[in-house]
Amino acid sequence: MTTDVTNTQNAFQMAIRMAVRAPAMMIGAAVMAIRINPTLSTVFIVVIPILAVCLFLIMSNAHPRFGIMMEKYDALNTSVQENLTGIRVVKAFVREDYEMRKFNDSADQVRKAQLRAEKLVILNSPVMQLCMYGCILAVLWFGGNMVVAGTFQVGKLSSFISYVMQTLTSLMMLSMVIMMFTISMASMRRICEVLDEVPEIGEVSQPVMEVKDGSIEYKDVSFSYSKDPSNLTLQHINLSIKSGETIGIIGGTGSAKSTLVQLIPRLYDITSGQLLVGGVDVREYQEEALRNAVSMVLQKNVLFSGTIRDNLKWGDENASDEEIIEACKAADAYEFIQSFPYGLDTDLGQGGVNVSGGQKQRLCIARALLKKPKILILDDSTSAVDTATDARIRAAFREKLSDTTTLIIAQRITSVQDADKVIVLNDGQIDDFGTPAELMERNQIYREVYQQQQKGARE
Ligand SMILES: Nc1ncnc2c1ncn2[C@@H]1O[C@H](COP(=O)(O)OP(=O)(O)O)[C@@H](O)[C@H]1O
Ligand SMILES: [Mg+2]
Repeated sequence: MTTDVTNTQNAFQMAIRMAVRAPAMMIGAAVMAIRINPTLSTVFIVVIPILAVCLFLIMSNAHPRFGIMMEKYDALNTSVQENLTGIRVVKAFVREDYEMRKFNDSADQVRKAQLRAEKLVILNSPVMQLCMYGCILAVLWFGGNMVVAGTFQVGKLSSFISYVMQTLTSLMMLSMVIMMFTISMASMRRICEVLDEVPEIGEVSQPVMEVKDGSIEYKDVSFSYSKDPSNLTLQHINLSIKSGETIGIIGGTGSAKSTLVQLIPRLYDITSGQLLVGGVDVREYQEEALRNAVSMVLQKNVLFSGTIRDNLKWGDENASDEEIIEACKAADAYEFIQSFPYGLDTDLGQGGVNVSGGQKQRLCIARALLKKPKILILDDSTSAVDTATDARIRAAFREKLSDTTTLIIAQRITSVQDADKVIVLNDGQIDDFGTPAELMERNQIYREVYQQQQKGARE
C-alpha cells in the first residue's frame, strides 16, 4: 500500500499541471498554425494519428507489465517485513543466509520486471522525437518551396515553425502524462481493490444502540469458517449464560473454544441458529455498541508502539490516571509497571517487544478492563503468568467485576475451578455444562484433565 500510494501521489503531483496545460497549449498553437497556413497544416493530419497509434501500442503493452512489477514489489516488501518482525526466530534457526538469498531473489525479480516494463516505455521518447523532427523537416521542405515560389513569406514560415514546435512539445508532455498515469494506474487499481472491499458483516437499518445486560444465549448455533454447512467448526450449540456469571471454558486445542467466544462480539457471523446478547440477536445491534459492551483479550495479543499509557487508553481514551492504575492493579500489572523507571510512560516498542509474555498478557487484561465491559472474554489470557498471579487476578475480578459476565478460556483446571459454571468443549460440541463440582462428579474429560494436572503438580 505504501508503495502504491507513493506512486499515485507522485504521478498526480507531476501530472496534474501538465494535464491541464498541455492540451490547452496544443490546441492554441495548432489553431494559430492553421490560421497562418491551412495547407501546410496538413502535416499534422499525417503525423498526429501515427504518433497516437504508436503511443497507444506502447502504453497498452506496458500497463500489464507494471502490474506484474507491483506484484513483485509485494513479495519484496513481505520478505523485508517478515524478516524484521521475526528477526529473533530467523537468528534462532540460523536462517540468515536463507533469508538473505530470499531477499536477493525477490529484489532481482523486481529489477527484471521493472526492466521489462521500462524497456517499452523508453520507446516513447524516440518515437516522439522522430515524429517531431520529421514534421519540422516536412514543414521546411514544403514551406521552403512555397517561399521560393513566392506564395509564402519567410517571416510567416518561421512563426509557423514555432507553432508547430509548440504543438508537438505539448503533445510530448501529454504523452508523458499518459505514461505516468499508466504506471500509477496499476497502483490505483490495487488501492481501489482494498477500498472497494465490502465487509461481510453489515448492520440492519435500525440497529439497537445499547446492550442491556451481559446475558448470553446460544440457540442451536452452528458455525463454519468457510460458510460450508457440511464442514461445521461449531455444531448445534445450546447454552444459556446469565448476566454476571463467571463461566470457564475448557477443552483440547482445536476444540473450537476461541471460535465459540469470537461469535459474541460478532468477529464472525454464525452460519445458522441464533445468538442473543442481552436478550437481543447480535445481528440487531449497532456494531460499535456491541463491541463496546464486549471486551476481549485475544489469544494472539497485540500491543502497539507507544507508551504503556497510550496502549491502555485503547480501552477508554478518556481514562484518568486513577482509573488506569485501578485497572492495572486488578490485572496484577501495577507492580511491574512501577518497577520500570518511567512507569506508565515506558515505551513499549513495536508490538510490545519490551515486556515479557506474562507482562504483555496482564497489560492486555488491564486494557480490556478499562472498557468497563458488560461481558469480558479472556481467551487463554493467563497462560504465560504463574499460578499465584493467575489466582490474584481472578480474585480481583470476583471483587471488582461482580456485574460483568466473564468468560475464561483456560488450559489449567485451577483457572476455572472457582467459576460459577464450566463449559467442556469437545470437537466443536458441548460435552458438558455445569458447576465445577458437578463436572468433577460426572464428566470424564474434566476429571481426566484434573487428575493429570494434579499429578503434574505433585511430581
Ligand atoms: N480463521 C480460521 N479459518 C479457518 N479455520 C479456522 C480459523 N480459526 C480456527 N480454525 C479452525 O477451527 C477449529 C477450532 O479452532 P479454535 O477455535 O481456534 O480452537 P481452540 O481455541 O479450541 O484451540 C480448528 O480446527 C481450526 O483449524
Ligand atoms: Mg484458542
